[in-house]
Amino acid sequence: MNGRPRVLVTRALPEAGMNKLFLHCDVTVFSAERQPTAEELKALLPQYDALLCTLMDKIDRELLQTARPKVVSTYAVGYDNIDIAAATEFGIPVTNTPGVLTNATAEIAWALLMAVTRRIVEADHFVRQGKWSGWSPLMLLGTELAGKTLGIIGCGRIGLAVAKRAKAFEMNTLYLNRRRLEEATENEYGLTYADLDTLLGQADFVSLHVPYTPEAHHLINRDALRKMKRSAFLINTARGAVVDEAALVEALQMGEIAGAGLDVFEAEPQVHAGLLPLQNVVLAPHLGSATWETRTKMAEIAVENTIKVLQGEHPISLVNP
Ligand code: DGY
Repeated sequence: MNGRPRVLVTRALPEAGMNKLFLHCDVTVFSAERQPTAEELKALLPQYDALLCTLMDKIDRELLQTARPKVVSTYAVGYDNIDIAAATEFGIPVTNTPGVLTNATAEIAWALLMAVTRRIVEADHFVRQGKWSGWSPLMLLGTELAGKTLGIIGCGRIGLAVAKRAKAFEMNTLYLNRRRLEEATENEYGLTYADLDTLLGQADFVSLHVPYTPEAHHLINRDALRKMKRSAFLINTARGAVVDEAALVEALQMGEIAGAGLDVFEAEPQVHAGLLPLQNVVLAPHLGSATWETRTKMAEIAVENTIKVLQGEHPISLVNP
């Protein structure tokens, strides 16, 4: 390649992870405040050799065909925002950042689960609003974890990390996965394989960890929600559209399930208006990987992937089949 390659980075990322990119390439960071619109991306990208984007950027066929970047490096493990088939057809490598956000995402699933079952957000508001008049035997009672059943849907890296933590809480764990895990892994993590109906019917907490694919669209729909226990909680840190949000709102309003902890939504950053008044729901703005440690490592990997492809080497994590 003649001269330094030009890389468009759509959002400002942790500086510590970006240094190598600045060293090797001419870098334009679109903005710290917002992602580019589809039109802005379409106008800008043809001027660059590579794109380092986030999950908020829609990388569709038209953009790929017009701009033909040498690599699309996404700053995420999920890549449902990118038309992989089109990228593959045009010979454009797409890379992601798997592995490094496993713990952070598992931790937020647990944070949401514990926040909603122990009513932490409600309790915080209660204290701040001056409503606390002293210890009381029946005040803000919640649900205990020990001895209960966790149902994990999608048992890849993150699902397994969630299962590992469930063991420490002395819980039983059912799981459902595209492929059944090795017996040794099931034993190590204390996992019992179950079909969807069994898992939904028996779990006290259902936690979603599947990638978003057409098959996963609305996997948790009205029917699935009705199969859950009325005392059960749903935790979603995967992708919003794995759950039919309108059906979830209805189930929560009708008391068909006990509560939900949600980090992801169908039309981010919009949140279904029906969720907002509900006390039995804890909402977070897609914070699964939002720790300094993880976001820095994600930047390092996204940068490494970009540089490697630009230098004609194999990236660390290629998504194309
Ligand atoms: C991802 O990387 O896919 C996560 O959703 C970001 O937090």
